[in-house]
Amino acid sequence: MIILGVNAYHANAAAAIIVDGRLIAAVEEERLNRVKYAAGLPARAVQFCLDRAGVKLTEVDHIAIPRDPYARLGTKLRFAVRMPKFALDRLRVMKKFAGVREDLASAFEIAPEKIRAQFHRVEHHQAHLASAFFVSPFESAAVLSADGLGDFASFMCASGAGPQMRVLGEVAFPHSLGMYYTALTQYLGFWKFGDEYKVMGLAAYGQPEFLPEFRRIVRAHGPHAFRLGLEYFIHQNQGSEMTWRDANSTPVLGRLFSPYLEKRLGSSRKVDEPLTSRHHNLAASMQAALEEVLVCCWNGLAKESLQKSLCLAGGVAFNCVANGKVFTTTPFARVYVQPAAGDAGLSVGAAFVVHHQILGRPREFTMDHAYWGPAYSAAEMKQVAAGAVSSGHADLAELEEPALIESTARHIAAGKIVGWYQGAAEWGPRALGNRSILADPRRPEMKDILNRRIKHREIFRPFAPSIIEEAVGEFFEQTHPSPFMTFAYPVRAEKRAAIPAPTHVDGTARLQTVSRAANPLYWKLLRKVGDLTGVPVVLNTSFNDNEPIVCRPEEALDCFRRTQMDVLVMGNSILEKKSAATVAGDQLGERLARPAK
Ligand SMILES: [Fe+2]
Repeated sequence: MIILGVNAYHANAAAAIIVDGRLIAAVEEERLNRVKYAAGLPARAVQFCLDRAGVKLTEVDHIAIPRDPYARLGTKLRFAVRMPKFALDRLRVMKKFAGVREDLASAFEIAPEKIRAQFHRVEHHQAHLASAFFVSPFESAAVLSADGLGDFASFMCASGAGPQMRVLGEVAFPHSLGMYYTALTQYLGFWKFGDEYKVMGLAAYGQPEFLPEFRRIVRAHGPHAFRLGLEYFIHQNQGSEMTWRDANSTPVLGRLFSPYLEKRLGSSRKVDEPLTSRHHNLAASMQAALEEVLVCCWNGLAKESLQKSLCLAGGVAFNCVANGKVFTTTPFARVYVQPAAGDAGLSVGAAFVVHHQILGRPREFTMDHAYWGPAYSAAEMKQVAAGAVSSGHADLAELEEPALIESTARHIAAGKIVGWYQGAAEWGPRALGNRSILADPRRPEMKDILNRRIKHREIFRPFAPSIIEEAVGEFFEQTHPSPFMTFAYPVRAEKRAAIPAPTHVDGTARLQTVSRAANPLYWKLLRKVGDLTGVPVVLNTSFNDNEPIVCRPEEALDCFRRTQMDVLVMGNSILEKKSAATVAGDQLGERLARPAK
């Protein structure tokens, strides 16, 4: 039984394929067409999934589309009467989705009738819920989806058991935690699609001075729901304007906050205006108000579902700062967040809805790692690495695994910036040790060095650590696994000086816990770094420079060449730049190279 899930005509276009109930492959279109948050039809992602499963499009049994234009039709019609532009947008969307078969056939250059698969429209939040619960390790759990908007709802919660879920509540347009966060992100001067995580990082610098006002902007309502103060927003009158031209362009979202919000909180920040303590406090207040609502919803859901485990999905599930607080504010003892918790994950969720809820098949799959994307052979990687040598760019060594790990760990401990390219690409927006840039977490200046030399991102944004799972309790106040970097925990006070580079200003870090089972090579590297330095942790940031995370070996090499990265480890090849005049603080390097006491 072959089921293809396709998130199309929507930001984070992606495809996933499951065969006999097991996920085989999943990838976002942006990794393949190199357009951040690409929307449109993810034809390249579909092709990759088919290739990985070894099937043709004509052999697929079911195609699941995580969008149901007919969901909440009555509510949509009521808004359509008030907002003609909104009605036109809805019609355009419905027309687009009606043509998926034809568009797929056209992309694969076959006649539409050759696609024998049955098409299924899966409601957006049902797909989000499924993307978390059906691949979680839990037989039963409470499940919660929260995002900006999908199929005219922004929030849904359920109780799941085995292959079924029972919806307990939902929140429909115009109330939305995602839109709340996006509106305030815009107000704070960050207008690019996907900028919300920047403001989450900014919030740590401030105090929630404006929380009373923010409680008017968003507040809990009922056992597991919330309401927006609609006077602070304009989307309920004008629709949420999300535009993209095609799969080759990044989505653009129109303004969401109203003049009333500026009247109450002061003028919005201009894009280039310096960030002040007022902006920090506004961000902190926004985050605090969101957390208050989420804590209320989590607890309401715990009470009604009587579950001890929780699955989170939707864009709000990327709020790792809030997620890290589940354990201290609710009865939930275990939490699962799928690595592609946002809309890319809908492709996985929709496929599993078909498998379990439509076809009635039992559960037999757990997503316990994130490596579902493209992988390249040792020969391909070696060939690409050799190209750098022939151009005189770098020195190349080919090493067997133990020597490769030893050498890489020594480079990291010596303060080098190392590109680490191995195995299959990660599913979801985080680099988790296969397409990562690694550095020494013990050097406080490493954050600035990475920003100056490679990442070129806002200086206030934190970098994340990867840590072997065996050492989590030694460094962090929580030990619950965070394999996909979806939780931020407080670093133990006595350990903050040991890992200053990835410890954020508020003493927390958005960690990746690495198990030997999930990624043996990366785990061995971290352990070797620990042997050399006493700290089994690396600073791990995504392998890119203001672009989608590198996918192919050629893209990794290109990023290595155009940035001031010192070392590229690709498969068994180690490339070291000849002009690496970039080692951070040699004296400090010598001191830090000694194991910590
Ligand atoms: Fe969504």
